[in-house]
Amino acid sequence: MSDTTTAELLELNQRLLDSIALGDWAAYQELCDPSLTALEPESLGHLVEGLAFHRYYFDLGGIRGRHQTTMCHPHVRLMGDVAVIAYVRLIQRIGPDGNAMTVGNAETRVWQRIDGRWRHVHFHRSMMMPMSN
Ligand code: GLY
Repeated sequence: MSDTTTAELLELNQRLLDSIALGDWAAYQELCDPSLTALEPESLGHLVEGLAFHRYYFDLGGIRGRHQTTMCHPHVRLMGDVAVIAYVRLIQRIGPDGNAMTVGNAETRVWQRIDGRWRHVHFHRSMMMPMSN
């Protein structure tokens, strides 16, 4: 696998996550294919297609206060013009009580090279919840 391509995909994916945290719709839109499909907690088990569903959250604004988004141990699988990136996303932010908190999500994001440019085409995100018996 090309180390250069892997580095480029990780950089694009980090830029995508940062655009979400900042509420930067222009950056998110530029990285996504208009046909993006997604399964995420907000879609309540439904596959959503297109960007309109996601725009709703951008219009509400990004994360307020100091925050940081980290991809933990990302795994990149390159299959020609398609790549799958899997990792846990950690978001450090200020919680409602004013104290720092961390939110974790397991994510799989699919990128496709279309007309020579990597575009985000699908993702699946699961919230990481503490387990107890
Ligand atoms: N909800 C937008 C994204 O995770 O890509």
